[in-house]
Amino acid sequence: MKDIKRKTVADILRHGEELAGSEVDVKGWVRTRRGNKNVQFVALNDGSTINNLQIVFDLSAFSDEQLRSVTTGSSIHVQGLLVASQGKGQTVEVQARELQVYGTANPEKYPLQKKGHSLEFLREIAHLRPRTNTFGAVLRIRHALAFAIHKFFNDKGFYYFHTPLITASDCEGAGAQFQVTTLDLENLPKTEEGKTDYSADFFGKMASLTVSGQLEGELGATALGCIYTFGPTFRAENSNTPRHLSEFWMIEPEMAFYEIADNMDLAEEFIKYCINYALEHCADDIAFLAEHFDKELPERLRFVVENDFVRLPYTEGVRILEESGRKFEFPVYWGVDLASEHERYLVEEHFRKPVILTDYPKEIKAFYMKLNDDGKTVRAMDVLFPKIGEIIGGSQREEDLDKLQARIDELGLTGMEWYLDTRRFGSVPHSGFGLGFERLVLFVTGMQNIRDVIPFPRFPNNCEF
Ligand code: 4AD
Ligand code: MG
Repeated sequence: MKDIKRKTVADILRHGEELAGSEVDVKGWVRTRRGNKNVQFVALNDGSTINNLQIVFDLSAFSDEQLRSVTTGSSIHVQGLLVASQGKGQTVEVQARELQVYGTANPEKYPLQKKGHSLEFLREIAHLRPRTNTFGAVLRIRHALAFAIHKFFNDKGFYYFHTPLITASDCEGAGAQFQVTTLDLENLPKTEEGKTDYSADFFGKMASLTVSGQLEGELGATALGCIYTFGPTFRAENSNTPRHLSEFWMIEPEMAFYEIADNMDLAEEFIKYCINYALEHCADDIAFLAEHFDKELPERLRFVVENDFVRLPYTEGVRILEESGRKFEFPVYWGVDLASEHERYLVEEHFRKPVILTDYPKEIKAFYMKLNDDGKTVRAMDVLFPKIGEIIGGSQREEDLDKLQARIDELGLTGMEWYLDTRRFGSVPHSGFGLGFERLVLFVTGMQNIRDVIPFPRFPNNCEF
Protein backbone atom coordinates (compact mmCIF):
# COMPACT_ATOMS: atom_id res chain seq x y z
CA MET A 1 0.00 0.00 0.00
CA LYS A 2 1.14 3.52 -0.79
CA ASP A 3 1.33 6.30 1.74
CA ILE A 4 -1.99 8.05 0.90
CA LYS A 5 -4.16 9.69 3.57
CA ARG A 6 -7.42 7.82 4.05
CA LYS A 7 -10.67 9.55 3.11
CA THR A 8 -14.17 8.67 4.23
CA VAL A 9 -16.79 7.63 1.72
CA ALA A 10 -18.75 10.78 2.59
CA ASP A 11 -15.73 12.96 1.80
CA ILE A 12 -15.01 11.23 -1.47
CA LEU A 13 -18.61 11.49 -2.66
CA ARG A 14 -18.94 15.09 -1.51
CA HIS A 15 -15.77 16.19 -3.31
CA GLY A 16 -15.98 13.71 -6.17
CA GLU A 17 -15.46 16.24 -8.92
CA GLU A 18 -12.30 17.77 -7.44
CA LEU A 19 -10.87 14.39 -6.49
CA ALA A 20 -11.55 12.67 -9.81
CA GLY A 21 -8.27 11.73 -11.46
CA SER A 22 -6.40 11.33 -8.16
CA GLU A 23 -5.57 8.25 -6.14
CA VAL A 24 -7.67 7.66 -3.06
CA ASP A 25 -7.37 5.47 0.02
CA VAL A 26 -10.62 4.18 1.48
CA LYS A 27 -11.64 1.65 4.15
CA GLY A 28 -14.99 0.16 5.00
CA TRP A 29 -17.37 -2.80 4.99
CA VAL A 30 -18.61 -4.53 1.87
CA ARG A 31 -22.34 -4.15 1.38
CA THR A 32 -22.64 -6.14 -1.84
CA ARG A 33 -20.49 -7.58 -4.56
CA ARG A 34 -21.65 -8.37 -8.07
CA GLY A 35 -20.23 -8.61 -11.56
CA ASN A 36 -18.94 -11.04 -14.15
CA LYS A 37 -15.72 -12.82 -15.02
CA ASN A 38 -14.08 -9.64 -16.27
CA VAL A 39 -15.04 -7.13 -13.66
CA GLN A 40 -16.43 -7.11 -10.12
CA PHE A 41 -18.28 -4.23 -8.44
CA VAL A 42 -18.20 -3.78 -4.69
CA ALA A 43 -20.50 -1.38 -2.84
CA LEU A 44 -18.41 -0.08 0.07
CA ASN A 45 -19.85 1.64 3.13
CA ASP A 46 -17.95 3.04 6.09
CA GLY A 47 -20.83 4.54 8.08
CA SER A 48 -20.01 8.13 7.17
CA THR A 49 -23.03 8.35 4.85
CA ILE A 50 -25.98 6.27 3.72
CA ASN A 51 -24.40 6.23 0.25
CA ASN A 52 -21.97 3.55 -0.86
CA LEU A 53 -18.80 4.04 -2.86
CA GLN A 54 -18.48 1.76 -5.86
CA ILE A 55 -15.15 -0.03 -6.12
CA VAL A 56 -14.35 -1.65 -9.45
CA PHE A 57 -12.02 -4.67 -9.53
CA ASP A 58 -10.67 -5.51 -12.96
CA LEU A 59 -10.09 -9.27 -12.96
CA SER A 60 -7.04 -8.92 -15.16
CA ALA A 61 -5.39 -7.22 -12.15
CA PHE A 62 -7.00 -9.18 -9.29
CA SER A 63 -7.37 -12.92 -9.07
CA ASP A 64 -10.45 -14.83 -7.91
CA GLU A 65 -8.34 -15.97 -5.01
CA GLN A 66 -7.68 -12.35 -3.93
CA LEU A 67 -11.36 -11.45 -4.13
CA ARG A 68 -12.69 -14.64 -2.53
CA SER A 69 -13.01 -13.14 0.93
CA VAL A 70 -14.46 -9.83 -0.31
CA THR A 71 -18.02 -10.77 0.63
CA THR A 72 -20.94 -8.98 2.26
CA GLY A 73 -19.92 -7.81 5.73
CA SER A 74 -16.16 -8.20 5.26
CA SER A 75 -13.91 -5.20 5.93
CA ILE A 76 -11.43 -3.99 3.36
CA HIS A 77 -8.83 -1.37 2.59
CA VAL A 78 -8.59 -0.18 -1.01
CA GLN A 79 -6.37 2.20 -2.91
CA GLY A 80 -7.14 3.19 -6.46
CA LEU A 81 -7.91 5.84 -9.00
CA LEU A 82 -11.07 7.88 -8.53
CA VAL A 83 -12.80 8.29 -11.89
CA ALA A 84 -16.12 9.54 -13.22
CA SER A 85 -18.45 6.57 -13.23
CA GLN A 86 -19.86 5.17 -16.44
CA GLY A 87 -22.62 3.32 -14.65
CA LYS A 88 -25.88 4.62 -13.28
CA GLY A 89 -26.40 5.41 -9.60
CA GLN A 90 -23.09 7.06 -8.80
CA THR A 91 -21.04 9.97 -10.10
CA VAL A 92 -17.61 8.58 -9.22
CA GLU A 93 -16.10 5.18 -8.59
CA VAL A 94 -12.73 3.79 -7.58
CA GLN A 95 -10.69 1.66 -9.99
CA ALA A 96 -8.98 -0.56 -7.47
CA ARG A 97 -5.18 -0.96 -7.59
CA GLU A 98 -4.43 -2.30 -4.12
CA LEU A 99 -6.57 -4.46 -1.85
CA GLN A 100 -6.15 -5.51 1.76
CA VAL A 101 -8.79 -7.59 3.54
CA TYR A 102 -8.96 -6.77 7.24
CA GLY A 103 -11.67 -9.16 8.38
CA THR A 104 -13.66 -11.79 6.57
CA ALA A 105 -17.38 -12.46 7.13
CA ASN A 106 -18.28 -16.03 6.37
CA PRO A 107 -21.34 -15.82 4.05
CA GLU A 108 -22.79 -18.99 5.60
CA LYS A 109 -22.79 -17.38 9.04
CA TYR A 110 -23.09 -13.60 8.62
CA PRO A 111 -26.76 -12.82 9.43
CA LEU A 112 -27.09 -9.71 7.27
CA GLN A 113 -27.00 -11.36 3.86
CA LYS A 114 -30.28 -10.65 2.19
CA LYS A 115 -31.74 -7.27 1.61
CA GLY A 116 -34.96 -6.39 3.37
CA HIS A 117 -34.70 -8.10 6.75
CA SER A 118 -37.73 -7.31 8.92
CA LEU A 119 -37.29 -4.80 11.72
CA GLU A 120 -38.39 -7.50 14.17
CA PHE A 121 -35.61 -9.79 13.01
CA LEU A 122 -33.09 -6.97 13.22
CA ARG A 123 -34.17 -6.27 16.81
CA GLU A 124 -33.01 -9.78 17.68
CA ILE A 125 -29.58 -9.03 16.27
CA ALA A 126 -29.41 -5.48 17.61
CA HIS A 127 -25.65 -5.90 18.03
CA LEU A 128 -25.29 -6.04 14.22
CA ARG A 129 -28.15 -3.89 13.00
CA PRO A 130 -26.14 -0.62 13.02
CA ARG A 131 -24.53 -2.08 9.88
CA THR A 132 -27.78 -1.94 7.95
CA ASN A 133 -28.74 1.06 5.85
CA THR A 134 -31.84 1.65 7.95
CA PHE A 135 -30.08 1.75 11.30
CA GLY A 136 -27.17 3.68 9.91
CA ALA A 137 -29.66 6.35 8.84
CA VAL A 138 -31.51 6.31 12.16
CA LEU A 139 -28.31 6.52 14.19
CA ARG A 140 -26.86 9.37 12.15
CA ILE A 141 -30.13 11.29 12.56
CA ARG A 142 -30.07 10.51 16.29
CA HIS A 143 -26.58 11.97 16.52
CA ALA A 144 -27.56 15.09 14.56
CA LEU A 145 -30.53 15.69 16.86
CA ALA A 146 -28.39 15.30 19.98
CA PHE A 147 -25.91 17.78 18.58
CA ALA A 148 -28.73 20.20 17.60
CA ILE A 149 -30.08 20.08 21.14
CA HIS A 150 -26.76 21.08 22.69
CA LYS A 151 -26.30 23.76 20.04
CA PHE A 152 -29.77 25.22 20.55
CA PHE A 153 -29.35 25.60 24.29
CA ASN A 154 -25.73 26.67 24.18
CA ASP A 155 -26.55 29.41 21.65
CA LYS A 156 -29.33 30.61 23.96
CA GLY A 157 -27.07 30.84 27.00
CA PHE A 158 -28.41 27.78 28.82
CA TYR A 159 -25.97 25.72 30.91
CA TYR A 160 -25.72 21.95 30.55
CA PHE A 161 -26.35 20.83 34.12
CA HIS A 162 -25.58 17.26 35.20
CA THR A 163 -28.15 15.76 37.50
CA PRO A 164 -27.59 12.44 39.27
CA LEU A 165 -28.74 9.12 37.88
CA ILE A 166 -28.89 7.54 41.32
CA THR A 167 -31.37 9.29 43.56
CA ALA A 168 -33.40 8.86 46.73
CA SER A 169 -36.42 10.85 45.49
CA ASP A 170 -39.24 10.10 43.06
CA CYS A 171 -39.82 13.16 40.88
CA GLU A 172 -42.88 12.02 39.01
CA GLY A 173 -44.42 10.13 41.93
CA ALA A 174 -45.51 7.34 39.65
CA GLY A 175 -43.71 4.67 41.66
CA ALA A 176 -42.06 3.31 38.52
CA GLN A 177 -38.48 3.31 39.76
CA PHE A 178 -35.75 0.73 39.51
CA GLN A 179 -34.18 0.18 42.88
CA VAL A 180 -30.40 0.36 43.28
CA THR A 181 -29.02 -1.83 46.01
CA THR A 182 -25.98 -3.82 47.07
CA LEU A 183 -27.91 -5.76 49.69
CA ASP A 184 -27.82 -9.53 49.38
CA LEU A 185 -31.32 -10.25 48.10
CA GLU A 186 -31.11 -13.83 49.36
CA ASN A 187 -30.35 -12.68 52.85
CA LEU A 188 -31.81 -9.26 53.63
CA PRO A 189 -30.95 -7.45 56.86
CA LYS A 190 -34.13 -6.78 58.88
CA THR A 191 -35.23 -4.05 61.26
CA GLU A 192 -36.92 -4.90 64.56
CA GLU A 193 -40.30 -4.52 62.81
CA GLY A 194 -39.23 -7.14 60.28
CA LYS A 195 -38.81 -4.74 57.35
CA THR A 196 -35.74 -4.51 55.12
CA ASP A 197 -33.07 -2.50 56.92
CA TYR A 198 -31.91 -0.01 54.32
CA SER A 199 -29.53 1.63 56.77
CA ALA A 200 -27.32 -1.35 55.94
CA ASP A 201 -27.57 -0.67 52.19
CA PHE A 202 -24.85 1.05 50.16
CA PHE A 203 -26.20 4.58 50.55
CA GLY A 204 -27.61 4.02 54.04
CA LYS A 205 -31.11 4.45 52.63
CA MET A 206 -33.27 3.21 49.80
CA ALA A 207 -32.05 4.49 46.41
CA SER A 208 -33.24 4.24 42.82
CA LEU A 209 -32.37 5.13 39.25
CA THR A 210 -33.82 8.51 38.37
CA VAL A 211 -37.10 8.92 36.49
CA SER A 212 -36.30 12.60 35.83
CA GLY A 213 -33.58 15.12 36.61
CA GLN A 214 -36.09 17.89 37.12
CA LEU A 215 -35.98 18.37 40.88
CA GLU A 216 -32.22 18.78 40.84
CA GLY A 217 -32.59 20.80 37.63
CA GLU A 218 -34.72 23.30 39.54
CA LEU A 219 -31.82 23.79 41.96
CA GLY A 220 -29.60 24.56 38.97
CA ALA A 221 -32.08 26.98 37.39
CA THR A 222 -32.63 28.90 40.62
CA ALA A 223 -28.90 29.60 40.67
CA LEU A 224 -27.69 29.69 37.05
CA GLY A 225 -30.90 31.07 35.52
CA CYS A 226 -31.42 28.72 32.59
CA ILE A 227 -30.14 25.15 32.53
CA TYR A 228 -30.86 21.96 30.67
CA THR A 229 -30.18 18.33 31.37
CA PHE A 230 -29.69 15.66 28.72
CA GLY A 231 -29.19 12.19 30.06
CA PRO A 232 -30.56 8.70 30.54
CA THR A 233 -33.77 8.21 32.48
CA PHE A 234 -35.20 4.96 33.82
CA ARG A 235 -38.80 3.90 34.26
CA ALA A 236 -39.96 0.51 35.43
CA GLU A 237 -43.49 0.98 34.11
CA ASN A 238 -44.71 -2.20 32.49
CA SER A 239 -45.71 -0.46 29.28
CA ASN A 240 -45.09 -2.78 26.39
CA THR A 241 -45.93 -0.15 23.78
CA PRO A 242 -44.19 1.18 20.67
CA ARG A 243 -43.66 4.47 22.53
CA HIS A 244 -42.17 3.37 25.87
CA LEU A 245 -38.67 2.29 26.84
CA SER A 246 -37.42 1.31 30.28
CA GLU A 247 -34.25 3.29 29.64
CA PHE A 248 -34.63 6.43 27.55
CA TRP A 249 -32.93 9.79 27.20
CA MET A 250 -34.61 12.97 28.28
CA ILE A 251 -33.83 16.64 27.76
CA GLU A 252 -35.10 18.82 30.60
CA PRO A 253 -34.65 22.59 30.36
CA GLU A 254 -35.53 24.54 33.50
CA MET A 255 -35.77 28.34 33.49
CA ALA A 256 -35.97 30.83 36.33
CA PHE A 257 -38.45 33.69 35.69
CA TYR A 258 -40.27 31.82 32.91
CA GLU A 259 -44.04 31.56 33.17
CA ILE A 260 -46.14 29.02 31.34
CA ALA A 261 -46.46 31.07 28.12
CA ASP A 262 -42.66 31.52 27.97
CA ASN A 263 -42.31 27.79 28.54
CA MET A 264 -44.63 27.00 25.61
CA ASP A 265 -42.80 29.46 23.35
CA LEU A 266 -39.49 27.81 24.20
CA ALA A 267 -40.81 24.28 23.68
CA GLU A 268 -42.21 25.16 20.26
CA GLU A 269 -39.08 26.99 19.12
CA PHE A 270 -36.86 24.20 20.43
CA ILE A 271 -38.60 21.32 18.76
CA LYS A 272 -38.90 23.19 15.45
CA TYR A 273 -35.19 24.01 15.61
CA CYS A 274 -34.30 20.34 16.08
CA ILE A 275 -36.49 19.18 13.19
CA ASN A 276 -35.13 21.92 10.93
CA TYR A 277 -31.60 20.94 11.85
CA ALA A 278 -32.28 17.35 10.82
CA LEU A 279 -33.93 18.47 7.57
CA GLU A 280 -30.86 20.53 6.74
CA HIS A 281 -28.15 18.12 7.86
CA CYS A 282 -29.65 14.66 7.31
CA ALA A 283 -31.33 15.06 3.93
CA ASP A 284 -29.91 11.81 2.49
CA ASP A 285 -30.85 9.73 5.51
CA ILE A 286 -34.35 11.20 5.71
CA ALA A 287 -34.83 10.60 1.98
CA PHE A 288 -33.76 6.97 2.41
CA LEU A 289 -36.17 6.39 5.30
CA ALA A 290 -38.98 8.15 3.43
CA GLU A 291 -38.44 5.97 0.38
CA HIS A 292 -38.37 2.71 2.32
CA PHE A 293 -40.78 3.24 5.19
CA ASP A 294 -42.83 6.41 5.13
CA LYS A 295 -43.45 8.40 1.95
CA GLU A 296 -45.09 11.28 3.83
CA LEU A 297 -42.19 11.79 6.22
CA PRO A 298 -40.53 14.88 4.66
CA GLU A 299 -43.90 16.54 4.23
CA ARG A 300 -44.88 15.83 7.85
CA LEU A 301 -41.58 17.28 9.11
CA ARG A 302 -41.94 20.42 7.03
CA PHE A 303 -45.55 20.80 8.08
CA VAL A 304 -44.60 20.83 11.75
CA VAL A 305 -41.86 23.43 11.36
CA GLU A 306 -44.02 25.68 9.19
CA ASN A 307 -47.16 25.81 11.33
CA ASP A 308 -47.97 27.33 14.70
CA PHE A 309 -48.86 24.79 17.36
CA VAL A 310 -52.42 25.01 18.71
CA ARG A 311 -52.59 26.00 22.41
CA LEU A 312 -55.63 24.64 24.16
CA PRO A 313 -56.76 24.10 27.77
CA TYR A 314 -57.39 20.49 28.76
CA THR A 315 -61.03 21.33 29.56
CA GLU A 316 -61.57 22.48 25.96
CA GLY A 317 -59.78 19.42 24.63
CA VAL A 318 -62.05 17.10 26.62
CA ARG A 319 -65.12 18.99 25.33
CA ILE A 320 -63.95 18.50 21.72
CA LEU A 321 -63.39 14.79 22.35
CA GLU A 322 -66.80 14.38 24.02
CA GLU A 323 -68.54 16.16 21.16
CA SER A 324 -66.61 14.28 18.47
CA GLY A 325 -69.13 11.47 18.35
CA ARG A 326 -66.14 9.13 18.14
CA LYS A 327 -66.26 5.77 19.95
CA PHE A 328 -62.95 5.63 21.81
CA GLU A 329 -61.57 2.47 23.34
CA PHE A 330 -61.07 4.34 26.64
CA PRO A 331 -63.91 6.60 27.85
CA VAL A 332 -63.25 10.32 27.91
CA TYR A 333 -64.56 12.71 30.59
CA TRP A 334 -63.22 15.67 32.57
CA GLY A 335 -60.61 14.40 35.00
CA VAL A 336 -59.40 11.45 32.96
CA ASP A 337 -55.74 11.05 32.01
CA LEU A 338 -55.95 11.21 28.22
CA ALA A 339 -54.93 8.10 26.32
CA SER A 340 -52.83 8.14 23.18
CA GLU A 341 -55.95 7.64 21.01
CA HIS A 342 -57.48 10.84 22.48
CA GLU A 343 -54.30 12.84 21.98
CA ARG A 344 -53.96 11.64 18.43
CA TYR A 345 -57.58 12.43 17.61
CA LEU A 346 -57.03 16.07 18.61
CA VAL A 347 -53.78 16.32 16.67
CA GLU A 348 -54.36 14.17 13.60
CA GLU A 349 -58.07 14.60 13.00
CA HIS A 350 -59.44 17.65 14.74
CA PHE A 351 -56.71 20.27 14.42
CA ARG A 352 -54.30 18.52 12.06
CA LYS A 353 -51.46 20.32 13.82
CA PRO A 354 -49.34 19.79 16.93
CA VAL A 355 -51.29 20.78 20.03
CA ILE A 356 -50.05 22.11 23.36
CA LEU A 357 -52.62 21.05 25.92
CA THR A 358 -52.54 23.07 29.16
CA ASP A 359 -54.18 23.38 32.57
CA TYR A 360 -54.79 19.73 33.42
CA PRO A 361 -56.66 18.55 36.54
CA LYS A 362 -54.19 18.54 39.43
CA GLU A 363 -55.03 14.93 40.37
CA ILE A 364 -53.49 13.52 37.19
CA LYS A 365 -50.30 15.59 37.30
CA ALA A 366 -47.16 15.66 39.48
CA PHE A 367 -47.01 17.44 42.85
CA TYR A 368 -44.70 20.26 41.75
CA MET A 369 -46.99 21.94 39.21
CA LYS A 370 -48.35 25.43 39.92
CA LEU A 371 -51.95 25.47 41.06
CA ASN A 372 -54.29 27.70 39.04
CA ASP A 373 -56.68 30.14 40.73
CA ASP A 374 -59.58 27.71 40.17
CA GLY A 375 -57.97 25.40 42.75
CA LYS A 376 -58.66 22.41 40.44
CA THR A 377 -56.21 22.65 37.57
CA VAL A 378 -52.46 23.08 37.36
CA ARG A 379 -50.30 25.01 34.91
CA ALA A 380 -49.19 21.93 33.02
CA MET A 381 -48.39 21.71 29.32
CA ASP A 382 -48.13 18.59 27.19
CA VAL A 383 -47.00 18.92 23.59
CA LEU A 384 -48.87 16.41 21.44
CA PHE A 385 -47.53 15.33 18.05
CA PRO A 386 -48.93 13.48 15.05
CA LYS A 387 -48.10 9.74 15.12
CA ILE A 388 -46.47 10.10 18.56
CA GLY A 389 -48.97 11.58 21.00
CA GLU A 390 -47.16 13.17 23.96
CA ILE A 391 -43.64 14.22 23.00
CA ILE A 392 -43.08 16.84 25.73
CA GLY A 393 -44.45 17.12 29.26
CA GLY A 394 -43.82 20.23 31.35
CA SER A 395 -45.25 22.92 33.56
CA GLN A 396 -44.82 26.12 35.45
CA ARG A 397 -43.68 25.10 38.94
CA GLU A 398 -45.40 25.94 42.23
CA GLU A 399 -43.13 28.59 43.74
CA ASP A 400 -45.29 29.22 46.84
CA LEU A 401 -43.82 27.32 49.78
CA ASP A 402 -47.12 26.90 51.64
CA LYS A 403 -49.05 25.60 48.65
CA LEU A 404 -46.24 23.24 47.66
CA GLN A 405 -45.86 21.98 51.22
CA ALA A 406 -49.62 21.39 51.43
CA ARG A 407 -49.56 19.31 48.23
CA ILE A 408 -46.54 17.32 49.43
CA ASP A 409 -48.32 16.59 52.71
CA GLU A 410 -51.52 15.67 50.89
CA LEU A 411 -49.61 13.10 48.83
CA GLY A 412 -47.57 11.91 51.81
CA LEU A 413 -44.18 12.58 50.15
CA THR A 414 -41.14 12.66 52.42
CA GLY A 415 -37.48 13.60 52.20
CA MET A 416 -38.19 16.77 50.20
CA GLU A 417 -36.60 19.37 52.50
CA TRP A 418 -33.68 20.02 50.18
CA TYR A 419 -36.11 20.68 47.32
CA LEU A 420 -38.29 22.95 49.43
CA ASP A 421 -35.26 25.13 50.19
CA THR A 422 -35.62 26.53 46.63
CA ARG A 423 -38.97 27.95 47.84
CA ARG A 424 -37.69 29.00 51.25
CA PHE A 425 -34.82 31.11 50.03
CA GLY A 426 -35.30 33.51 47.13
CA SER A 427 -38.14 31.58 45.48
CA VAL A 428 -38.96 32.70 41.93
CA PRO A 429 -41.53 31.86 39.28
CA HIS A 430 -39.96 29.20 37.08
CA SER A 431 -40.88 26.63 34.48
CA GLY A 432 -39.49 23.73 32.53
CA PHE A 433 -40.30 20.68 30.47
CA GLY A 434 -39.04 17.28 29.45
CA LEU A 435 -38.61 16.11 25.87
CA GLY A 436 -38.41 12.36 25.38
CA PHE A 437 -35.39 12.10 23.08
CA GLU A 438 -36.42 8.80 21.48
CA ARG A 439 -39.91 10.16 20.78
CA LEU A 440 -38.27 13.02 18.89
CA VAL A 441 -36.04 10.59 16.99
CA LEU A 442 -39.13 8.47 16.28
CA PHE A 443 -40.90 11.48 14.80
CA VAL A 444 -37.97 12.65 12.70
CA THR A 445 -37.13 9.20 11.31
CA GLY A 446 -40.74 8.15 10.73
CA MET A 447 -40.01 4.79 12.37
CA GLN A 448 -42.97 3.03 13.99
CA ASN A 449 -41.39 1.54 17.09
CA ILE A 450 -39.31 3.33 19.71
CA ARG A 451 -37.16 0.19 20.05
CA ASP A 452 -35.80 0.94 16.59
CA VAL A 453 -34.44 4.42 17.36
CA ILE A 454 -32.02 3.60 20.21
CA PRO A 455 -29.01 1.33 19.63
CA PHE A 456 -29.73 -1.11 22.45
CA PRO A 457 -33.34 -0.85 23.68
CA ARG A 458 -34.36 -1.88 27.19
CA PHE A 459 -37.95 -2.95 27.77
CA PRO A 460 -39.78 -5.47 29.95
CA ASN A 461 -38.22 -8.93 29.67
CA ASN A 462 -35.43 -7.70 27.45
CA CYS A 463 -31.95 -6.69 28.48
CA GLU A 464 -29.84 -8.10 25.67
CA PHE A 465 -26.47 -6.81 24.54
O1 4AD B 1 -44.15 13.74 31.06
P1 4AD B 1 -42.94 13.25 31.80
O2 4AD B 1 -43.12 12.13 32.74
O3 4AD B 1 -42.35 14.53 32.51
C1 4AD B 1 -41.31 14.57 33.37
O4 4AD B 1 -40.60 13.64 33.66
C2 4AD B 1 -41.02 15.96 33.87
N1 4AD B 1 -40.15 15.84 35.05
C3 4AD B 1 -40.40 16.78 32.79
C4 4AD B 1 -40.10 18.18 33.22
O5 4AD B 1 -41.01 18.98 33.37
N2 4AD B 1 -38.83 18.51 33.41
O6 4AD B 1 -41.83 12.81 30.75
C5 4AD B 1 -41.35 13.74 29.79
C6 4AD B 1 -41.28 13.10 28.42
C7 4AD B 1 -42.61 12.61 27.89
O7 4AD B 1 -43.36 13.65 27.31
C8 4AD B 1 -42.16 11.59 26.86
O8 4AD B 1 -41.78 12.21 25.65
C9 4AD B 1 -40.91 11.01 27.50
O9 4AD B 1 -40.46 11.95 28.47
N3 4AD B 1 -41.17 9.71 28.16
C10 4AD B 1 -40.78 8.53 27.68
N4 4AD B 1 -40.12 8.20 26.56
C11 4AD B 1 -39.85 6.89 26.34
N5 4AD B 1 -40.19 5.91 27.19
C12 4AD B 1 -40.86 6.18 28.34
N6 4AD B 1 -41.18 5.19 29.18
C13 4AD B 1 -41.18 7.55 28.62
N7 4AD B 1 -41.81 8.18 29.63
C14 4AD B 1 -41.79 9.49 29.34
MG1 MG C 1 -46.13 13.26 30.81
